[in-house]
Amino acid sequence: MENKDRIYIFDTTLRDGEQSPGATLNVPEKLEIAKQLAKLGVDIIEAGFPFSSPGDFEAVNLISKEVQGPTICALARAKKEDVEKAAQSLEPAKKRRIHTFIATSDIHMEHKLKMSREKVIKTAVETVAFAKGFTPDIEFSPEDAGRSDPKFLYEILQAVIEAGATTLNIPDTVGYTVPLEFGALIKGIKENVKSIDKAIISVHCHNDLGLAVANSLSAAMNGARQIECTINGIGERAGNCSLEEIVMILKTRPHLNLFTNVDSTQIYRTSRLVSTLTNMLVQPNKAIVGANAFAHEAGIHQDGFLKYKRTYEIMNPEDVGLLTSKLPLGPRSGRHAVKDRLEELGYHLSDEDLSKAFERFKEIADKKKRVEDRDLESIVRDEQRTAETTTYYEIEALQIACGTGLPTASICLKKTDNNLFIKDSALGTGPVDAIYKAINKIVGVQNELIEFSVQSVTEGIDALGEVTIRIRSEGGAIYSGHAANTDIMLASAKAYLNALNKYVSAESAGKKVLVQKDDFIASKGV
Ligand code: KIV
Ligand code: ZN
Repeated sequence: MENKDRIYIFDTTLRDGEQSPGATLNVPEKLEIAKQLAKLGVDIIEAGFPFSSPGDFEAVNLISKEVQGPTICALARAKKEDVEKAAQSLEPAKKRRIHTFIATSDIHMEHKLKMSREKVIKTAVETVAFAKGFTPDIEFSPEDAGRSDPKFLYEILQAVIEAGATTLNIPDTVGYTVPLEFGALIKGIKENVKSIDKAIISVHCHNDLGLAVANSLSAAMNGARQIECTINGIGERAGNCSLEEIVMILKTRPHLNLFTNVDSTQIYRTSRLVSTLTNMLVQPNKAIVGANAFAHEAGIHQDGFLKYKRTYEIMNPEDVGLLTSKLPLGPRSGRHAVKDRLEELGYHLSDEDLSKAFERFKEIADKKKRVEDRDLESIVRDEQRTAETTTYYEIEALQIACGTGLPTASICLKKTDNNLFIKDSALGTGPVDAIYKAINKIVGVQNELIEFSVQSVTEGIDALGEVTIRIRSEGGAIYSGHAANTDIMLASAKAYLNALNKYVSAESAGKKVLVQKDDFIASKGV
């Protein structure tokens, strides 16, 4: 028998979250996040909107094949062609859900859909019935429910339950409602939709007024049993209800008598992964996962905290997966200490991978003296990324001259298939531009740099810098590249090469013949 106090966590980082401006993820990145969401223990992963693009279709399909545990869900407008695509992409999933939606507010029906209420109900019912032919697990959302006439909502919700919907998701699409009002809406639905006991009430709150979490909580206190949320609260416009906040509210305030099955110790790792891959920084004062969330600055707070930590700390940092550092690692730390620390952080490496990570650790410890957990995680992720990408080119040497004169980069790349060392140099508008131009001369792959960002892993002048870039191929495919190094010019070069290696790999996998500039290389006499 289901526990009535359990809140199902429906994660939509890969669908609504990915709608955040600039947060585009490619298919392997989506798979990596989905695997981590499964470790986090979410109940449902909304993996994408398959009709919207071939990339979304592919991601939902791959996640359906490779991710075990959560139900995999795909979004579909209330249109047969959308539902068919969603069903097709979800085919390999053991547990699959189709989520269909149509707007129900007067403003949307009149100006966007140009449909009457009757037509909207008919379309919703027909779509749900059609989707039911593919899976028994159907979610229906009356889009903009927060601004819809409650009586119309009761009517359409009853109709879709009769057609087979098993989850009724109530979205506050534009983040307009306030907690008392939204809670009352959920209570009204529970009391006025005759067959409501046949379905689970879900909520999907946007954060335009900063109330997404408060509204979701109020809904749960009034009978909602599924909350839709995203890691770091990312999503359309101001984002969605933040998963880490809602989960930790329920964990920290047991008097609410509501619980989730999420393993909160995986929260920090998931947050870092999503932040790195979407390239959306987490603000330092963000609840739960911000860099300052567990930092005590004021003297009076530090004094109280040291006497009794509960004076100023309502949660244990360990509960969200933040380890309070014991002995800092440094140049004298051995392989064993690094292995132990990595295992505490949840990384169980093979001997070979540990050796590579340890080599990197030593390099960094020599420069930084004190290596923190975030540095270690960054090193491991960097190594994992390199291992996952077929390496066609490696950096052998890099030299940059910059300042007020002419920024110049000279680079030597090793072409791994024939061990050729190729050198070239270029002038640029700045040092990174010069590096990328020099690399382009050697690799000779047409692309456009569409994103470049540098983030410091820890504080201090000696911090590791993590560079994330995205390039667009001639055919429009997007490849991301990441790298971390205490030298941000080297990190920039490695990140670019990481993206180019992915590009070359994808193209040589048969899609297109590459313009590998062998004749260019030959003309350089290398
Ligand atoms: O915000 C919204 O209304 C949505 C729906 C598709 C659920 O994202
Ligand atoms: Zn939304």
